[in-house]
Amino acid sequence: MQFQWYPGHMAKAKKAMQEDIKLIDVIVELVDARVPYSSKNPDIDALANGKSRVLVMNKYDLADASVTDKWVKYYEDKGYFVTKVNSKNGKGVKAVNNVIKKACAEKIERDRHRGIINRPVRAMVAGIPNVGKSTFINSFAGKACTKTGNKPGVTKGKQWIRLNKSVELLDTPGILWPKFEDQKAGLNLAFTGAIKDELYNAYELSILLLDFFNRNYPDAVNMHYKTRTTEDSNTAETLQQIAVCRGCIKSGAEPDTDKAGKLLIDDFRAGRLGAVTLEKPQDLP
Ligand code: G4P
Repeated sequence: MQFQWYPGHMAKAKKAMQEDIKLIDVIVELVDARVPYSSKNPDIDALANGKSRVLVMNKYDLADASVTDKWVKYYEDKGYFVTKVNSKNGKGVKAVNNVIKKACAEKIERDRHRGIINRPVRAMVAGIPNVGKSTFINSFAGKACTKTGNKPGVTKGKQWIRLNKSVELLDTPGILWPKFEDQKAGLNLAFTGAIKDELYNAYELSILLLDFFNRNYPDAVNMHYKTRTTEDSNTAETLQQIAVCRGCIKSGAEPDTDKAGKLLIDDFRAGRLGAVTLEKPQDLP
């Protein structure tokens, strides 16, 4: 599901998050491991209101493993309980349960002191559109999809999924809005497909993506498309070469660079250009 955000939309999402946060003990925040900063909602710290925090680096199958490890450390240093997940094939999903329990250890201990034993911790999944919330919930809840039903008085209309005796999950994720102010983040989200394609010109986007590859993963494009570009090649020429290599030709034998641009973006998003991360902690402003 993709959103065209406008102020009314954002206010509504914020209000929904504020209401849901009152009901839970821990926020399980999903980010896209290819863009762990750009895909992270800027306002969640204020919304989180002291709740325990788990950060799930989703889609880590598509990200550069060595950079992912740096991001894990970066967010751990900021006090998050961080874990890497591929919600699509389920890798790492089971472990999230223990991470949630770790993040809530103090609360569980406090409950125990007060004689409250075996009260499940309540979690909600949150993240910007397209980060993989639904896929994650399906994978995490798996067969445990027995809904516990409405809790009279407190959680009218809310459905909880009882994952096991220690964790309950709100069945609808919190939809967060992306970073609007930050142009670089917007571009990164356009590369990964989290921002509607219609908002960008595919040709220009692909040129910028090629430029990123030239600077950061110089062999990836040549390896995938069998092109022969060098560090000095200009990106427009590279795109022409990709068009030729992939048979994207317009009438009159002219390379169809619009088509090649779309192909490049699709290939990147699907991981066919290799495992790639678009930003590094050391590059943050
Ligand atoms: P949302 O609820 O946060 O909006 O995201 P959603 O679960 O709909 O996932 C968005 C896209 O990301 C889906 O792809 C989904 O398959 C993919 N995805 C989610 N988690 C992972 C992951 O860990 N790794 C990879 N590689 N992909 C992931 P789609 O193209 O929209 O749908 P589909 O063709 O895969 O079904």
